[in-house]
Amino acid sequence: MKLFVFDGAGDGASFVADRIEALLAAKPDAHLGLAAGGTMVPIYDQMAQRHADGRLSLAAASAYLLDEYVGLEAADPHGYRRSIEQALVSRTDLAAGRVHAPNGLAPDLVAEADRYDRLVADAKIDLQLLGIGGNGHLAFNEPGSALESQTRPVELSPTTLAANSRFFDSVDAVPTVAITQGLGTIRRASQLVLVAFGAGKSDPVRQALEGPVTTMVPASVVQLHDDVLVVLDEAAASLLTAPR
Ligand code: GLP
Repeated sequence: MKLFVFDGAGDGASFVADRIEALLAAKPDAHLGLAAGGTMVPIYDQMAQRHADGRLSLAAASAYLLDEYVGLEAADPHGYRRSIEQALVSRTDLAAGRVHAPNGLAPDLVAEADRYDRLVADAKIDLQLLGIGGNGHLAFNEPGSALESQTRPVELSPTTLAANSRFFDSVDAVPTVAITQGLGTIRRASQLVLVAFGAGKSDPVRQALEGPVTTMVPASVVQLHDDVLVVLDEAAASLLTAPR
């Protein structure tokens, strides 16, 4: 695991965008694992800016999302596919047809999760972006998720519903079910890039990186992967005790 700590989120996001730019320069048809959530916004902003500057092309790349809410209409801006379309498809040359996500409107959610798990496995993700939840969740793998879990429908915890309600009109508007890549699915990616900004992430970051690998802190599974970049700002790193 390699740890990179920056003064602020802007520098951290720029570093991550550098890595993605370098990957795409070496492998234009890279398979990118993308995450939703506020942490990724400055990273996608950087990617869009680099595309505008002629430095980064996603024309041959493909994107695979970590997770998706169940029950939101395709045009709902809270949907994760929709948020990636707004963040990258509308601002870069990433084709909408190359953005893959679980279908949260599928009639059979288990079958849909199995389909997506096979798709991600076959794709072999080159670089997987990961945020971390305040309760240590990874994608929508809530505490208690098996370390080898596969893509599946899950119920969101009350803490996650409360945390994500900031993107909705009220907590009651947050879908209570999602389809998420499992912890075992995520670990198949060639490289993981775990990103966290802000003091609110300092405790889950400490638990994930310095605590035991445990289902109660799903993000701790990154310790089991042999190619992990951890990108933090000083606030998110503030509770780490290991020398750096
Ligand atoms: C959300 C998403 C995760 C995301 C995490 C952190 O619930 N399912 O994929 O990484 O929680 O979100 P944020 O970056 O908004 O803090």
